[in-house]
Amino acid sequence: MATQPRAEINPEDLKKLDLDAMTPEERYRAEYAKEWRDGLDRSTLEKPLATADTPLAEIDVSRPELYALDRWQPVFEKLRREDPIHWCEDSVYGPFWSLTTQKPIIHVEALPDIYSSDWRNGGFTILNSTNDETIALPMFIGMDRPEHTAQRRTVSPAFTPSEMKRLDEDVRKRTSELLDSLPRGEEFDWVDTVSIELTTGMLAILFGFPWEDRRKLTEWSDWMGDVNAAMDPELGPVRMQKMYEAAAYFQSLWKQRKASEPGPDLLSMMAHSDALGEMDDRNFLGNITLLIVGGNDTTRNTMSAYAYALNQFPEQGRKLEENPELVANAGQEIIRWQTPLAHMRRTAMEDTELFGKQIKKGDKLVMWYLSANRDEEVFDDGHLIDFERGNARRQLAFGYGIHRCVGARLAELQIRVLIEEMAKRRLRPEITGEIERVNSNFVHGYKKMPVKLASY
Ligand code: HEM
Repeated sequence: MATQPRAEINPEDLKKLDLDAMTPEERYRAEYAKEWRDGLDRSTLEKPLATADTPLAEIDVSRPELYALDRWQPVFEKLRREDPIHWCEDSVYGPFWSLTTQKPIIHVEALPDIYSSDWRNGGFTILNSTNDETIALPMFIGMDRPEHTAQRRTVSPAFTPSEMKRLDEDVRKRTSELLDSLPRGEEFDWVDTVSIELTTGMLAILFGFPWEDRRKLTEWSDWMGDVNAAMDPELGPVRMQKMYEAAAYFQSLWKQRKASEPGPDLLSMMAHSDALGEMDDRNFLGNITLLIVGGNDTTRNTMSAYAYALNQFPEQGRKLEENPELVANAGQEIIRWQTPLAHMRRTAMEDTELFGKQIKKGDKLVMWYLSANRDEEVFDDGHLIDFERGNARRQLAFGYGIHRCVGARLAELQIRVLIEEMAKRRLRPEITGEIERVNSNFVHGYKKMPVKLASY
């Protein structure tokens, strides 16, 4: 996945590659990772990127450049029209099914015993998780029932409507302060200055994390969520190092919370819960990772999408200015249109049939929310933003079923407050330069967005 701006790499940390000792697949991955790191556009290489004219059998939507170059739309439109449950035989991630409309995605997510999320079966992203108990980081998004139920239950009280009410004031205060501090008439990067700052601050509050160190959360989360780095034999160990650094930091906070009276922050809630309070170190780190990665680039990219949308669809901005009661629906519509996580994945636990396709035990099924949120059977002109869209809430960006995003309300709160506070100040960001997108088939978002603030 990933790749938001990343920390400096120390060349000493990079392991020397022995390409000759690798299997062809390992070599392909290693070379691929190098090219990606050096910024090479693989669309010019031997395997061209898919377009609407590519024969179905050759379409591979796992290629991250499709998203970095923003060329995924016609390819998914073709898949939805001609083959909504599509088999890709050959990809860097091995063969996989692509589910591109709402019906099969909802069907699969509603049958978690047949379609597993468990890390021991491959996990929840297109990249297979390791099933090596000594290095895996088990987290409940990658677990099946009953383990999933028990662990999810311990964090869900942090996201109830009453908790959201409690957090509202804090979120509003920080959002207001940040908006008031933005430079006027000067170019700045919306992603770093607004989206990252607000989301990271929110996570720091949620965890009771030391405020002055909050950017560590951004750095760790970017590394942890970086599926490309995870596949890279050179960057992989650097990434692991970052994860251990995060683990050590959180372990010491955890000890403090365990030794103190229960408090309202998430870490304290977890430390004092039965199911999470006694879990082993790896599982603990896994769930912390889940919460910081889950709440980080997703909300960040929604906030960036809002600024982008106001520029792409200026009439919608005006509509909102005239009808402030559209704010909640506008938030849903932005989340639908952006779909900050392009996919989740499941693994078939038995031979089965899915709307006429024969699924074999062990097959990988990738559910492309990004495409399902453009499903022509559900949304008219899904590629457009319409803050008055009657069924914006039918979007699948938060998933569906037992794994549906536990932090959805918090994400909605943050985006709603941002829209409201910008409206109060009559602020409109105007994009002034080239936008850079994340090179990933998982995190769907923006690396850079230069803007100037205007008032209306
Ligand atoms: C717009 C923002 C967000 C989006 C688009 C998003 C998306 C998702 C998706 C697609 C899933 C998996 C659903 C599935 O497998 O069916 C998920 C799960 C999860 N998300 Fe979010 N998320 C967002 C914000 C957050 C926030 C703010 C947090 C917490 C701080 C969070 C924490 C989690 C956790 C813990 C899970 C695992 C739930 C489970 O397995 O039961 N997310 N999210």
